[in-house]
Amino acid sequence: MAMKYKPLGRTDLTVSQICLGTMTWGEQNTEPDAHEQLDAAIDAGINFIDTAEMYPVPPCAQTYGLTETYIGTWLAKRGNRDKVILATKVTGRSGSFPYLRDGKPCLDRRNIETALNDSLKRLQTDYVDLYQLHWPDRNTNFFGQLGYQHKADEVTVPIAETLQVLGDLVKSGKVRHIGLSNETPWGTMTFLCSAEQQGLPRVASIQNPYNLLNRSFEVGLAEVAHREDTGLLAYSPLGFGMLSGKYLHGARPHGARLTLFDRFTRYTHNIAQWATQAYVELAEKHGLDPAQMALAFVNSRSFLTSTIIGATSMEQLHDNIKSIDIELSADVIEGIENIHRQSPNPAP
Ligand SMILES: NC(=O)c1ccc[n+]([C@@H]2O[C@H](COP(=O)([O-])OP(=O)(O)OC[C@H]3O[C@@H](n4cnc5c(N)ncnc54)[C@H](OP(=O)(O)O)[C@@H]3O)[C@@H](O)[C@H]2O)c1
Repeated sequence: MAMKYKPLGRTDLTVSQICLGTMTWGEQNTEPDAHEQLDAAIDAGINFIDTAEMYPVPPCAQTYGLTETYIGTWLAKRGNRDKVILATKVTGRSGSFPYLRDGKPCLDRRNIETALNDSLKRLQTDYVDLYQLHWPDRNTNFFGQLGYQHKADEVTVPIAETLQVLGDLVKSGKVRHIGLSNETPWGTMTFLCSAEQQGLPRVASIQNPYNLLNRSFEVGLAEVAHREDTGLLAYSPLGFGMLSGKYLHGARPHGARLTLFDRFTRYTHNIAQWATQAYVELAEKHGLDPAQMALAFVNSRSFLTSTIIGATSMEQLHDNIKSIDIELSADVIEGIENIHRQSPNPAP
């Protein structure tokens, strides 16, 4: 297996095309599991790790910050901070985190500075390579919403202000580069224009959902990714595991995410089931593992910088990393496009 690498936006960093996701660590996975995954990922040529102050998921007061803590103990044990490109995130505006900064996290100076300083402590490092805004401060389309609803009287932290804070953090050396997550074309372009006007740091990447059940990134953001070098860091490339086919026909395998946490319904409704069944049958017809086909499709996109994989077992981790070696034939791609035309973005 040969890992592939891509530039991270217009920065001087080169990241592996497979990024190690971490959001199960501290919930479905223990600290030793996390360290075993990290060691195996590094052995496979992965140099890119994605986390967030909020993790693990589902988030709660008792586990808040555990994922970063596990990464921190691993970095301290291995003494290899300079070998990894570490991405984390500050929680966006929300009322769902009563335990976080007076229950009112948002993207203003106090919140971002506090969040970063706490993340650095947990991660046992003095800088992060990519600091991402987990979701926008304003009301817009993300986490499954497609139909934009305008709220004229909404109070938000202006993008120029958030960017100023991030610029100061880059100047201080605590942050090397900045990125967005769950963003829209308007948001991304506003960050880029504001950076140019104010001489502030340029966004290097957009971390959004992207998988066979949700290709909405292609509508507006793929063009931005190409023209502005803000490549996609694709999250949930298996639609929470759905695209492996293991939840078909109502199956709920023991210990799996959608069995444990039935509040996650983004990928399991009827239309998503129909499309998943079609993708699984296509993979089987071509002798491919459905999960590996789904990942290989994401890996093959021209606007992609890195696919953020998630795994709860070492077997899943190895299988998912191996997707880097799979090149999908023209027949498979045509089959995928046929299904996509019949059921475009059933789980946005
Ligand atoms: N920015 C954001 O808002 C955001 C949101 C979500 C995720 N992320 C990032 O993206 C990463 C990946 O997201 P994700 O975990 O949702 O990715 P995913 O690939 O859609 O789902 C991963 C889950 O699917 C199951 N799985 C993985 N490989 C499998 C295989 N080969 N066969 C069968 N089941 C398999 C595992 O769960 P079970 O074993 O429990 O089934 C695993 O935890 C996260 O860790 C996080 O870093 C970011």
